[in-house]
Amino acid sequence: MRNLAFVSMAGALALGALIIRPAQARAQGAALDFKIYCSRCHGENGKGDGADAGTLKTPPRNFTDCAVMSKISDATMFKAIKDGGASVGLPNDMPAWSAGLDDDEIHGLITYIRGFCKK
Ligand code: HEC
Repeated sequence: MRNLAFVSMAGALALGALIIRPAQARAQGAALDFKIYCSRCHGENGKGDGADAGTLKTPPRNFTDCAVMSKISDATMFKAIKDGGASVGLPNDMPAWSAGLDDDEIHGLITYIRGFCKK
């Protein structure tokens, strides 16, 4: 009987971990994606000061600038990230990521990027 209680408790815990995991994993995944794919231009802290920023014709967007960022919709950001800057009328210095990132990963990155604007 005690074993059964233990097993069902362990089961409930495992189930809980399964339910909680995805959101956490997504947040961690986005931070890592940003570091790997985006920070070389946009900078680790989103200020647009990454190592490669100086090589571009257009300075990368500064995500800490709340005034600018509040005017950009999630839908526009999604398109810019997925299909590249040119798809939303920006310079093609902003590459397209449709080949490397799926829609969920892009949504995760948008949430992550919004976090750089601290009011
Ligand atoms: C090679 C440099 C480079 C890399 C790498 C890069 N970007 Fe950009 N990004 C830019 C430039 C340049 C712009 C355009 C800024 C402008 O026009 O003012 C931009 C603009 C943006 C915008 C603003 C879109 C809008 O509508 O204003 C978003 C969001 C963005 N990038 C997200 C990302 C994400 C997410 C990644 C990583 C997956 C990434 N960028 C990687 C250079 C880069």
